[in-house]
Amino acid sequence: MATRVYECLKSIGEKIIENKDFLTDLDREIGDADHGVNMARGFQGVIEKVAQDDPDIGAVLKKTGMTLLSTVGGASGPLYGTAYMEAGKVLAGKNEISTDDFLAAFDAAIAGIQKRGKAEKGEKTMLDSLIPAREAFAEAAQGGADLKSSLDAACKAAEEGIEFTKTIAATKGRASYLGDRSIGHQDPGATSATITLETIRDFL
Ligand SMILES: Nc1ncnc2c1ncn2[C@@H]1O[C@H](COP(=O)(O)OP(=O)(O)OP(=O)(O)O)[C@@H](O)[C@H]1O
Ligand SMILES: [Mg+2]
Repeated sequence: MATRVYECLKSIGEKIIENKDFLTDLDREIGDADHGVNMARGFQGVIEKVAQDDPDIGAVLKKTGMTLLSTVGGASGPLYGTAYMEAGKVLAGKNEISTDDFLAAFDAAIAGIQKRGKAEKGEKTMLDSLIPAREAFAEAAQGGADLKSSLDAACKAAEEGIEFTKTIAATKGRASYLGDRSIGHQDPGATSATITLETIRDFL
């Protein structure tokens, strides 16, 4: 199972690397044109450093988080790094991931991002995709949907979250320096978060 989690992380990394220029271009509009570069560097590290034969899901996610934390840089490195490390704590020792497990890990990841970045929904950050995605996931799972279908609902909400970020001004991070001039642009972090969720769904 940890091998599958590693393969899923590798798949996320490949997707992020594939979208490097796209994410960087989005960050050029409202930031400092480094989000794709940062994330691609981080996931290159994950692909190289995280061992695929590690037997423990928690350990694989923890190593992923630590690698992102030390190599991504910028605001998103510590935020994504914390998210993966917190998810790893919840999934430590598991051999299979149920919808309940995924939800618990999702909650821990978001709580970690919020503890570290002190942002709420509506500030034009990755949380504008992640929080609605988490809500949609929980609703689908509670209605009896399996992991993949629940993730489908989450991805739809995350996509809507990206659209929502176009309508609001940033109040966190570098984009907040632009004030209302950040309106009309989609948030790079919300975009990379959505790519992450879509890759997990497609992997299943
Ligand atoms: N406090 C925060 N909480 C959650 N996400 C945040 C926060 N600050 C920034 N972000 C996310 O990080 C993304 C930018 O990541 P990037 O890799 O470009 O780092 P950065 O250039 O240091 O960012 P910034 O200068 O905007 O803080 C934003 O698009 C946003 O989604
Ligand atoms: Mg940036």
